[in-house]
Amino acid sequence: MITRRLCLRNLVESFRLGSSMSKLGCRYNLAFLSSSSLPQAREQFVYSDDESADVDWDNLGFGLVPTDYMYIMKCAKEGNFEQGQLNRYGKVELSPSAGVLNYGQGLFEGIKACRKEDGRLLLFRPDQNAIRMKIGAERMCMPSPSVDQFVDAVKQTVLANKRWVPPPGKGSLYVRPLLMGSGPVLGLAPSPEHTFLVYASPVCNYFKEGFAPLNLYVEDEFDRASPGGTGGVKAISNYAPVLKAQIRAKNRGFSDVLYLDTVNKRYVEEVSCCNIFIVKGNMIATPATNGTILAGVTRRSIIEIAGDHGYQVEERRVAVDELMDADEVFCTGTAVGVASVGSITYHNTKVEFRTGAKTVSAELYSDLVGIQKGLSEDKKGWIVEID
Ligand SMILES: Cc1ncc(COP(=O)(O)O)c(C=O)c1O
Repeated sequence: MITRRLCLRNLVESFRLGSSMSKLGCRYNLAFLSSSSLPQAREQFVYSDDESADVDWDNLGFGLVPTDYMYIMKCAKEGNFEQGQLNRYGKVELSPSAGVLNYGQGLFEGIKACRKEDGRLLLFRPDQNAIRMKIGAERMCMPSPSVDQFVDAVKQTVLANKRWVPPPGKGSLYVRPLLMGSGPVLGLAPSPEHTFLVYASPVCNYFKEGFAPLNLYVEDEFDRASPGGTGGVKAISNYAPVLKAQIRAKNRGFSDVLYLDTVNKRYVEEVSCCNIFIVKGNMIATPATNGTILAGVTRRSIIEIAGDHGYQVEERRVAVDELMDADEVFCTGTAVGVASVGSITYHNTKVEFRTGAKTVSAELYSDLVGIQKGLSEDKKGWIVEID
């Protein structure tokens, strides 16, 4: 009964989509309803070809480009998430006393969808993001969508916004799932209602440097995360506190900030939104995930690829002195990809590192990107095709 009602609501919404799309001169045809959570709709409507959105694909950066649709799914206290649905992209209504607004009870994720030359749309390991959100939700006392619900919502959001997926080689559709305490609370307590929302934006390079090497600043005044805190999960509350350090570093001409551990102020942690690796000879090392840094999906994938290439990969403490003595340094993340680091400045000392086409990071990135864009065989089963 509930399924039937929700499907009908989706159909009403889809007709609105059809009319607004035709105003845009678009050949969309209720296409997004082909997702697995809408079986009745799938039987009735066939996905049609999409027409590219009106975007200057050659000058795409990493700013928000609003798209057509977002996905919303709710969970009342103690319950499971009810079936979600696509809505027009737009404002969200929240109580002024929502848990997310008052106490920062929220998590987010980031996943990229790529368009292959043959038009197929690919996601990279979305199940890993779903699992990370589950772990984060447990830490933040929130219910979380199942892995299937999460992946299905991501697929539906990409399909609904298909015309916003950049052409091959021009970037990707960045998909942003959010989990937030949306119900009202006054005294500090978990929110009585939670909302899972997925929106998307076409993006290209994260850093204004494009593919040029990054210049990082080692921060020793401001901390990012301390043991026992939430640094190991993608809590929204981890990010605003680093803005001060990030803005200061950018104003001084650096690309971003590299954080140290808060206890010894000696071991490297991560950059504001990506993980870090050092290379010395045949050895590649990256800080172990011990609860204060995010276990990046790209980080894990690069560790595996580097092992396949015969490098000795170590997940352990990396002292800042060892970092400054490395041959090569690079960062990994969904938004940044694999970004090579040209220099690091620590206590007024600037050290430069090897960069360019013959580096280890270039070698590993080429493998990773080949899989992500569907250019090489996906022997690891990391790609999820959206159909
Ligand atoms: C703090 C932080 N570290 C690392 C990463 C990289 O993680 P992933 O490779 O899963 O995007 C991110 C981005 O999600 C991040 O915000």
